[in-house]
Amino acid sequence: MGNRTTRAGIVGIGSAVPEKVLTNSDLERIVDTTDEWILERTGISERRICDEDTAASDLSLRAAVAALAESGVPAKELDLVIVATITGDMPFPATASLIQDRLGATKAAAFDLQAGCSGFIYALSVADGLIRAGTYQNILVIGVDILSKITDWTDRTTCVLFGDGAGAAVVAPVNDGSGILSFALGSDGSGADLLKIEAGGSRLPTSEETVRNRQHYIRMSGREVFKFAVRIMGDASLEALEKAGLKPENVDMFVPHQANIRIIEAAARRLELPQEKVFVNVQKYGNTSAASIPIALDEATKQGSIKKGDTVVAVGFGAGLTWGAIVLRWGIG
Ligand code: ACO
Repeated sequence: MGNRTTRAGIVGIGSAVPEKVLTNSDLERIVDTTDEWILERTGISERRICDEDTAASDLSLRAAVAALAESGVPAKELDLVIVATITGDMPFPATASLIQDRLGATKAAAFDLQAGCSGFIYALSVADGLIRAGTYQNILVIGVDILSKITDWTDRTTCVLFGDGAGAAVVAPVNDGSGILSFALGSDGSGADLLKIEAGGSRLPTSEETVRNRQHYIRMSGREVFKFAVRIMGDASLEALEKAGLKPENVDMFVPHQANIRIIEAAARRLELPQEKVFVNVQKYGNTSAASIPIALDEATKQGSIKKGDTVVAVGFGAGLTWGAIVLRWGIG
């Protein structure tokens, strides 16, 4: 008697971004754009970009080492590595297997998961299920994307938006009242065409022609994705909160996918959250896709914006179209 429910919780978190900063003024020299346009339409001032030799597993490894150190879990005790990404080191094998090897996580299974910018929330929910079922004890969940390598640097409608980064969380059983309280996931594949890379799969394998047509780069219908994002960020957050038996006024910190400040502000308005309860770092990193939420969670914790015991809602949306929201009682700090 008296034992608290065992939940899955984040027991360590870390992130990594490349050193190289690309500012809006730098972009003015690459495409026909201005610092004012980018700042006003997106809230982004600068983003981090990997060098030629850096791939998803390299940044992920740095984030994973930091998360493991904070958790106190040795890599050898990991049961599973899940990597949420659309820009793995190569189409296969899974980047998760590369990281499992480089960490020396010899006992761990490994797989990649693809749900665009919602990937980290999807991966956390998989870890939650496996831990609550008692199947596994220690799961490393990574969100990483190196979008700079699949960006068309001649397309001003997309290249100003993205940045590179990685975030990692160690998920383990917790029984101190903290942990994952609920989540809400969804997909609407009728929006698949709004955000995609057309070539390089089994529908349209890479050929000289697809490369000539630049079909190996991201294409996005920005306005449609914007409208979807504004609606779904609020809907998904409210659904997850309801499942946890909570209301927006119970939220201590809202951590939305960092794609565009106008989308973030619209979601915050919908939830009637004051500015100080909304975490924003899109100005520094742009949209880092699957890495955006774990980087934000890591920064928010390290700078004291999220404290132990806080109720946190993280919500993402992205290619698929997909979305995911999660409610956590924060256990670190
Ligand atoms: N610089 C200057 N002008 C530009 C730029 C630029 N970088 N990009 C577009 N414009 C122009 C357009 O050509 C257009 O001109 P026109 O009116 O003469 O045709 C004008 O600016 C307005 O363009 P819109 O697309 O209507 O601008 P909008 O206000 O919608 O902002 C943006 C565009 C920032 C892309 C916005 O739609 C958005 O943020 N969408 C959501 C994107 C997103 O969040 N994606 C997340 C998923 S990413 C993932 O999963 C990998």
